[in-house]
Amino acid sequence: MPAGPPARLPPRLLEVRNLVKTYPSRHGGRLPAVDGVSLSVRCGETFGLVGESGSGKSTVGRCVLRLTTADSGTVRFDGQDIAGLSAAGMRRLRSRVQAVFQDPHASLNRRASVAGIIAAPLVAHRIGTRGEREARVRELLDLVQLPGGIADRRPGELSGGQAQRVAIARALAPRPDFIVLDEAVSALDVSVRAQILNLLTGLQRDLGLTCLFISHDLAVVRYMAQEVGVMYRGRIVEMARREDLFAAPRHPYTRLLLDAVLAADPVTARSRVSRTRPDEYVRSEPPALGCRFLPRCDVGAGRPRCASEDPPLCLLDTTPVHVSCHYPGVMG
Ligand SMILES: Nc1ncnc2c1ncn2[C@@H]1O[C@H](COP(=O)(O)OP(=O)(O)O)[C@@H](O)[C@H]1O
Ligand SMILES: [Mg+2]
Repeated sequence: MPAGPPARLPPRLLEVRNLVKTYPSRHGGRLPAVDGVSLSVRCGETFGLVGESGSGKSTVGRCVLRLTTADSGTVRFDGQDIAGLSAAGMRRLRSRVQAVFQDPHASLNRRASVAGIIAAPLVAHRIGTRGEREARVRELLDLVQLPGGIADRRPGELSGGQAQRVAIARALAPRPDFIVLDEAVSALDVSVRAQILNLLTGLQRDLGLTCLFISHDLAVVRYMAQEVGVMYRGRIVEMARREDLFAAPRHPYTRLLLDAVLAADPVTARSRVSRTRPDEYVRSEPPALGCRFLPRCDVGAGRPRCASEDPPLCLLDTTPVHVSCHYPGVMG
């Protein structure tokens, strides 16, 4: 019998099942941005969703946040299908689930003060009195390691790192259980990125947060996540605990991403993949037959099965690793 996930793993807080989201394509028809994604995020853990630009990561995040509606599939948060929530249930979800995006300056109201920005979700959810909110803002600034004096500043006066700390403080304000971080450190300089990653891991540990951490950068995901899903063209092609994934990547695409991580230091590493332009693969129709990774695969070339059968995401025998490849672990 294949070994399932060990029983000691924490329970699931978020469960995504068979999520599909399509967009109109340039040639009429519709292209799948997300094509049947299932994943779950365990309480107090970070799930890292990684893959090159256009693979569908943000679309998964937007469906989880209900910023967009999926064509089909379900998102269950704390056991409840978020599509079926009442208006009151939706308001509650909006305070329990928060987000931090890539460009901190773009996501902050330029005319508001830092204090006003951080207090905004508290005002929106009618949490606390004015005095309590002011105290909470001071506490949050401290939590994200910003000086209290910054409270009266405007976003335009902040550095990228400071602005991202403000965005994190705002996300933490209503004491969420779950945070979606979509390329939250990708716009930052390497040294600032390392500081923000350290801040995030500390906050996660101290506050017991559960996170969906989305990044094109496998090095950053390796640093942050306990469980990793590798996305390619709208699908998860490999999903495993961090140790298993990095010790023995089974899918050729995971190996491609891993090879591209040049330096060993997870915080300062820059990956080559982030600089390649995979658009020609992503913007076209997926092949009607066979594996969608085949055009780039060094293992499948010349193997008839790869050209004729689309490999499903399956649990690999005797491991807790899911992989969608007919020849998992085979080197090209
Ligand atoms: N609002 C949209 N309208 C049309 N196409 C979209 C939209 N959002 C995303 N897409 C397409 O869906 C695919 C996945 O996008 P996205 O989820 O942003 O990927 P990632 O975050 O991995 O870069 C891409 O091909 C993208 O062009
Ligand atoms: Mg994205």
